[in-house]
Amino acid sequence: MTAQMLDGRALAGRIEASLRGEVDTFAGMFRRKPRLVVVLVGDVAASASYVKSKAAAAARLGMDSAVIPVAATATTADLVALVGSIARDEHGHADGILVQLPLPPHVDQVAVLDAVPPDRDVDGFHPENAGLLSQGRPRFIPCTAAGVQRMLIDAAIPTAGRHVVIVGRSDIVGKPLALLLAQRPPPGCPADGAGGCDATVTICHSRSGDLGRFTREADILVAAVGKPGLITAPMVRPGAAVIDVGINRVDGRLVGDVDAGPVAEVAGWLSPVPGGVGPMTVAMLMANTLLAAELRLGRG
Ligand code: GUN
Repeated sequence: MTAQMLDGRALAGRIEASLRGEVDTFAGMFRRKPRLVVVLVGDVAASASYVKSKAAAAARLGMDSAVIPVAATATTADLVALVGSIARDEHGHADGILVQLPLPPHVDQVAVLDAVPPDRDVDGFHPENAGLLSQGRPRFIPCTAAGVQRMLIDAAIPTAGRHVVIVGRSDIVGKPLALLLAQRPPPGCPADGAGGCDATVTICHSRSGDLGRFTREADILVAAVGKPGLITAPMVRPGAAVIDVGINRVDGRLVGDVDAGPVAEVAGWLSPVPGGVGPMTVAMLMANTLLAAELRLGRG
Protein backbone atom coordinates (compact mmCIF):
# COMPACT_ATOMS: atom_id res chain seq x y z
CA MET A 1 0.00 0.00 0.00
CA THR A 2 1.21 3.50 -0.71
CA ALA A 3 -0.47 6.10 1.43
CA GLN A 4 -2.45 8.97 -0.01
CA MET A 5 -0.73 12.19 1.04
CA LEU A 6 -2.83 14.66 3.02
CA ASP A 7 -1.78 17.95 1.47
CA GLY A 8 -2.21 20.47 4.28
CA ARG A 9 -0.65 23.24 2.24
CA ALA A 10 -3.27 22.96 -0.50
CA LEU A 11 -6.15 22.70 1.96
CA ALA A 12 -4.85 25.69 3.95
CA GLY A 13 -4.74 27.62 0.67
CA ARG A 14 -8.40 26.82 0.01
CA ILE A 15 -9.36 27.83 3.55
CA GLU A 16 -7.42 31.08 3.20
CA ALA A 17 -9.18 31.82 -0.09
CA SER A 18 -12.57 31.56 1.60
CA LEU A 19 -11.42 33.54 4.67
CA ARG A 20 -10.17 36.34 2.41
CA GLY A 21 -13.72 37.06 1.29
CA GLU A 22 -14.96 37.07 4.89
CA VAL A 23 -12.16 39.44 5.92
CA ASP A 24 -13.12 41.79 3.06
CA THR A 25 -16.74 41.73 4.20
CA PHE A 26 -15.66 42.47 7.77
CA ALA A 27 -13.42 45.34 6.68
CA GLY A 28 -16.15 46.81 4.48
CA MET A 29 -18.66 46.67 7.30
CA PHE A 30 -16.50 47.93 10.18
CA ARG A 31 -14.01 50.13 8.32
CA ARG A 32 -11.10 48.30 9.85
CA LYS A 33 -9.28 45.01 9.51
CA PRO A 34 -9.20 42.16 12.02
CA ARG A 35 -5.92 42.41 13.91
CA LEU A 36 -3.63 39.84 15.53
CA VAL A 37 -0.95 40.80 18.06
CA VAL A 38 1.80 38.27 18.72
CA VAL A 39 4.26 38.36 21.62
CA LEU A 40 7.59 36.75 20.75
CA VAL A 41 9.92 36.22 23.70
CA GLY A 42 13.64 35.60 23.20
CA ASP A 43 15.38 34.52 20.02
CA VAL A 44 14.39 30.90 19.44
CA ALA A 45 14.84 30.48 15.68
CA ALA A 46 11.89 28.09 15.24
CA SER A 47 9.53 30.44 17.12
CA ALA A 48 10.66 33.41 15.04
CA SER A 49 10.00 31.42 11.88
CA TYR A 50 6.50 30.33 13.02
CA VAL A 51 5.64 33.92 13.96
CA LYS A 52 6.82 35.10 10.55
CA SER A 53 4.48 32.58 8.87
CA LYS A 54 1.57 33.81 10.99
CA ALA A 55 2.22 37.47 10.10
CA ALA A 56 2.62 36.56 6.41
CA ALA A 57 -0.70 34.68 6.42
CA ALA A 58 -2.44 37.65 8.07
CA ALA A 59 -1.05 39.93 5.35
CA ARG A 60 -2.20 37.55 2.57
CA LEU A 61 -5.72 37.64 4.00
CA GLY A 62 -5.82 41.42 4.36
CA MET A 63 -5.63 41.32 8.16
CA ASP A 64 -3.44 43.53 10.34
CA SER A 65 -0.84 41.99 12.57
CA ALA A 66 1.93 43.12 14.87
CA VAL A 67 4.75 41.20 16.46
CA ILE A 68 6.04 42.51 19.78
CA PRO A 69 9.57 41.19 20.40
CA VAL A 70 10.59 40.82 24.05
CA ALA A 71 14.00 40.02 25.53
CA ALA A 72 14.53 36.48 26.84
CA THR A 73 15.29 38.01 30.24
CA ALA A 74 11.70 39.28 30.66
CA THR A 75 10.09 38.11 33.90
CA THR A 76 6.66 36.58 34.39
CA ALA A 77 5.48 39.93 35.81
CA ASP A 78 6.85 41.80 32.77
CA LEU A 79 5.00 39.50 30.39
CA VAL A 80 1.74 39.55 32.35
CA ALA A 81 1.94 43.36 32.34
CA LEU A 82 2.67 43.42 28.60
CA VAL A 83 -0.28 41.16 27.78
CA GLY A 84 -2.46 43.39 29.98
CA SER A 85 -1.32 46.48 28.10
CA ILE A 86 -2.08 44.82 24.75
CA ALA A 87 -5.52 43.88 26.05
CA ARG A 88 -6.09 47.52 27.00
CA ASP A 89 -5.27 48.29 23.35
CA GLU A 90 -2.18 50.29 24.24
CA HIS A 91 -0.45 48.69 21.23
CA GLY A 92 -3.29 49.32 18.76
CA HIS A 93 -6.53 47.41 18.96
CA ALA A 94 -5.98 43.66 19.22
CA ASP A 95 -8.79 41.27 18.29
CA GLY A 96 -6.53 38.28 18.82
CA ILE A 97 -3.60 38.03 21.23
CA LEU A 98 -1.09 35.19 20.97
CA VAL A 99 1.96 34.50 23.11
CA GLN A 100 4.32 32.32 21.11
CA LEU A 101 5.50 29.23 23.01
CA PRO A 102 7.80 27.99 24.37
CA LEU A 103 8.60 30.70 26.91
CA PRO A 104 11.99 30.77 28.65
CA PRO A 105 12.15 28.26 31.53
CA HIS A 106 12.19 30.94 34.27
CA VAL A 107 8.78 32.24 33.12
CA ASP A 108 5.52 30.92 34.59
CA GLN A 109 3.84 30.02 31.30
CA VAL A 110 0.43 29.39 32.86
CA ALA A 111 0.39 32.84 34.49
CA VAL A 112 1.23 34.52 31.18
CA LEU A 113 -1.32 32.55 29.12
CA ASP A 114 -4.00 33.15 31.75
CA ALA A 115 -3.43 36.91 31.30
CA VAL A 116 -4.77 36.73 27.74
CA PRO A 117 -8.46 37.71 27.93
CA PRO A 118 -10.53 34.66 26.93
CA ASP A 119 -12.40 36.59 24.23
CA ARG A 120 -9.12 37.39 22.46
CA ASP A 121 -7.47 34.02 23.11
CA VAL A 122 -7.07 32.90 19.50
CA ASP A 123 -4.83 30.01 20.64
CA GLY A 124 -7.72 28.59 22.68
CA PHE A 125 -5.40 27.97 25.64
CA HIS A 126 -7.27 29.96 28.33
CA PRO A 127 -9.07 27.73 30.87
CA GLU A 128 -12.40 29.29 29.85
CA ASN A 129 -11.92 28.22 26.24
CA ALA A 130 -10.55 24.81 27.27
CA GLY A 131 -13.63 24.40 29.48
CA LEU A 132 -16.02 25.37 26.71
CA LEU A 133 -14.39 22.80 24.42
CA SER A 134 -14.60 20.10 27.07
CA GLN A 135 -18.31 20.83 27.46
CA GLY A 136 -18.90 20.46 23.73
CA ARG A 137 -19.58 24.15 23.08
CA PRO A 138 -16.26 25.34 21.67
CA ARG A 139 -15.41 28.98 21.01
CA PHE A 140 -11.71 29.19 20.16
CA ILE A 141 -10.37 25.71 19.41
CA PRO A 142 -6.57 25.29 19.66
CA CYS A 143 -5.34 25.77 16.12
CA THR A 144 -3.40 22.55 15.55
CA ALA A 145 -6.22 20.38 16.90
CA ALA A 146 -8.73 22.24 14.73
CA GLY A 147 -6.41 21.82 11.75
CA VAL A 148 -6.12 18.06 12.20
CA GLN A 149 -9.90 17.71 12.49
CA ARG A 150 -10.36 19.79 9.35
CA MET A 151 -7.87 17.61 7.42
CA LEU A 152 -9.79 14.48 8.37
CA ILE A 153 -13.10 16.04 7.34
CA ASP A 154 -11.68 17.32 4.05
CA ALA A 155 -10.22 13.93 3.13
CA ALA A 156 -13.55 12.26 4.08
CA ILE A 157 -11.72 10.00 6.55
CA PRO A 158 -14.53 8.71 8.75
CA THR A 159 -14.24 9.20 12.49
CA ALA A 160 -17.61 8.05 13.85
CA GLY A 161 -17.12 4.82 15.76
CA ARG A 162 -13.47 4.70 14.64
CA HIS A 163 -10.58 4.32 17.03
CA VAL A 164 -8.32 7.36 17.17
CA VAL A 165 -5.03 6.90 19.02
CA ILE A 166 -3.24 10.13 19.90
CA VAL A 167 0.36 9.91 21.05
CA GLY A 168 1.00 13.01 23.18
CA ARG A 169 -1.13 14.58 25.93
CA SER A 170 -0.23 18.26 25.55
CA ASP A 171 -2.69 21.05 26.28
CA ILE A 172 -1.89 22.42 22.82
CA VAL A 173 -2.64 19.34 20.70
CA GLY A 174 -3.29 15.96 22.34
CA LYS A 175 -5.93 16.90 24.91
CA PRO A 176 -8.00 19.30 22.78
CA LEU A 177 -7.86 16.96 19.77
CA ALA A 178 -9.11 14.06 21.89
CA LEU A 179 -12.06 16.15 23.09
CA LEU A 180 -12.81 17.42 19.61
CA LEU A 181 -12.85 14.05 17.87
CA ALA A 182 -14.81 12.35 20.66
CA GLN A 183 -17.49 15.05 20.82
CA ARG A 184 -21.07 14.55 19.74
CA PRO A 185 -21.84 15.94 16.28
CA PRO A 186 -21.99 19.73 16.65
CA PRO A 187 -24.45 21.68 14.52
CA GLY A 188 -23.27 21.39 10.91
CA CYS A 189 -21.41 18.10 11.42
CA PRO A 190 -22.40 15.79 8.56
CA ALA A 191 -24.41 12.77 9.69
CA ASP A 192 -22.46 10.37 7.46
CA GLY A 193 -19.71 9.83 9.99
CA ALA A 194 -17.08 11.83 8.11
CA GLY A 195 -17.52 14.80 10.36
CA GLY A 196 -14.48 14.72 12.61
CA CYS A 197 -16.48 13.67 15.66
CA ASP A 198 -18.03 10.61 17.42
CA ALA A 199 -14.66 8.80 17.60
CA THR A 200 -13.41 6.50 20.34
CA VAL A 201 -10.17 8.07 21.51
CA THR A 202 -7.11 6.72 23.32
CA ILE A 203 -4.41 9.10 24.54
CA CYS A 204 -0.93 7.63 24.90
CA HIS A 205 1.98 9.31 26.65
CA SER A 206 5.45 8.77 28.05
CA ARG A 207 4.17 6.30 30.69
CA SER A 208 2.00 4.22 28.35
CA GLY A 209 4.68 1.55 28.01
CA ASP A 210 4.62 -0.42 24.76
CA LEU A 211 3.23 2.24 22.40
CA GLY A 212 2.85 -0.20 19.51
CA ARG A 213 0.28 -2.18 21.51
CA PHE A 214 -2.01 0.86 21.24
CA THR A 215 -0.98 2.37 17.91
CA ARG A 216 -1.57 -0.90 16.02
CA GLU A 217 -5.23 -0.67 17.09
CA ALA A 218 -5.67 2.78 15.54
CA ASP A 219 -7.85 3.54 12.54
CA ILE A 220 -6.47 7.06 12.87
CA LEU A 221 -3.08 7.56 14.49
CA VAL A 222 -1.93 11.03 15.52
CA ALA A 223 1.69 11.57 16.56
CA ALA A 224 2.17 14.79 18.54
CA VAL A 225 5.22 14.35 20.73
CA GLY A 226 8.22 15.99 19.06
CA LYS A 227 10.37 12.85 18.71
CA PRO A 228 11.71 12.16 15.23
CA GLY A 229 11.07 8.62 14.01
CA LEU A 230 8.90 7.68 17.01
CA ILE A 231 6.23 6.01 14.86
CA THR A 232 7.69 3.21 12.76
CA ALA A 233 5.97 1.08 10.11
CA PRO A 234 5.37 -1.96 12.38
CA MET A 235 3.43 0.32 14.77
CA VAL A 236 0.87 1.20 12.08
CA ARG A 237 -2.19 -0.82 11.15
CA PRO A 238 -2.35 -1.36 7.36
CA GLY A 239 -4.65 1.23 5.81
CA ALA A 240 -4.71 3.53 8.84
CA ALA A 241 -4.68 7.32 8.53
CA VAL A 242 -1.49 8.67 10.10
CA ILE A 243 -1.37 12.33 11.05
CA ASP A 244 2.09 13.65 11.85
CA VAL A 245 2.00 16.73 14.08
CA GLY A 246 5.70 16.65 14.96
CA ILE A 247 8.05 19.32 13.65
CA ASN A 248 11.65 18.43 14.39
CA ARG A 249 14.86 19.72 12.87
CA VAL A 250 17.33 16.91 12.15
CA ASP A 251 20.59 17.73 10.36
CA GLY A 252 19.02 20.94 9.07
CA ARG A 253 15.98 19.12 7.67
CA LEU A 254 12.39 19.31 8.98
CA VAL A 255 10.98 15.91 9.91
CA GLY A 256 7.94 14.78 11.85
CA ASP A 257 7.43 12.14 14.53
CA VAL A 258 6.69 9.50 11.90
CA ASP A 259 9.27 7.44 9.99
CA ALA A 260 7.55 8.67 6.84
CA GLY A 261 9.10 6.54 4.08
CA PRO A 262 8.35 3.09 5.53
CA VAL A 263 5.06 4.21 7.13
CA ALA A 264 3.80 5.45 3.73
CA GLU A 265 4.08 1.84 2.53
CA VAL A 266 1.67 0.66 5.24
CA ALA A 267 -0.71 3.54 5.93
CA GLY A 268 -3.77 4.47 3.89
CA TRP A 269 -3.22 8.20 4.40
CA LEU A 270 -0.25 10.15 5.70
CA SER A 271 0.23 13.85 6.40
CA PRO A 272 3.71 14.95 5.31
CA VAL A 273 6.17 17.14 7.22
CA PRO A 274 6.58 19.82 6.03
CA GLY A 275 3.37 20.66 4.17
CA GLY A 276 0.87 18.76 6.32
CA VAL A 277 -0.46 19.94 9.68
CA GLY A 278 1.82 23.02 9.91
CA PRO A 279 0.03 25.16 7.28
CA MET A 280 -3.32 24.05 8.71
CA THR A 281 -2.37 25.42 12.14
CA VAL A 282 -1.73 28.82 10.59
CA ALA A 283 -5.00 28.76 8.60
CA MET A 284 -6.96 27.91 11.75
CA LEU A 285 -5.27 30.77 13.59
CA MET A 286 -6.48 33.12 10.88
CA ALA A 287 -10.01 31.72 11.23
CA ASN A 288 -9.85 32.23 15.01
CA THR A 289 -8.61 35.80 14.59
CA LEU A 290 -11.49 36.65 12.27
CA LEU A 291 -13.91 34.99 14.72
CA ALA A 292 -12.42 37.04 17.59
CA ALA A 293 -12.91 40.25 15.61
CA GLU A 294 -16.48 39.29 14.74
CA LEU A 295 -17.32 38.37 18.34
CA ARG A 296 -15.82 41.63 19.52
CA LEU A 297 -17.97 43.64 17.16
CA GLY A 298 -21.07 41.60 17.82
CA ARG A 299 -21.31 39.55 14.65
CA GLY A 300 -20.07 36.16 15.92
N1 GUN B 1 4.32 26.98 19.75
C1 GUN B 1 4.13 25.86 19.04
N2 GUN B 1 2.83 25.74 18.67
C2 GUN B 1 2.19 26.82 19.17
C3 GUN B 1 0.84 27.26 19.11
O1 GUN B 1 -0.06 26.62 18.55
N3 GUN B 1 0.58 28.44 19.74
C4 GUN B 1 1.55 29.15 20.38
N4 GUN B 1 1.19 30.29 20.98
N5 GUN B 1 2.81 28.76 20.46
C5 GUN B 1 3.13 27.61 19.84
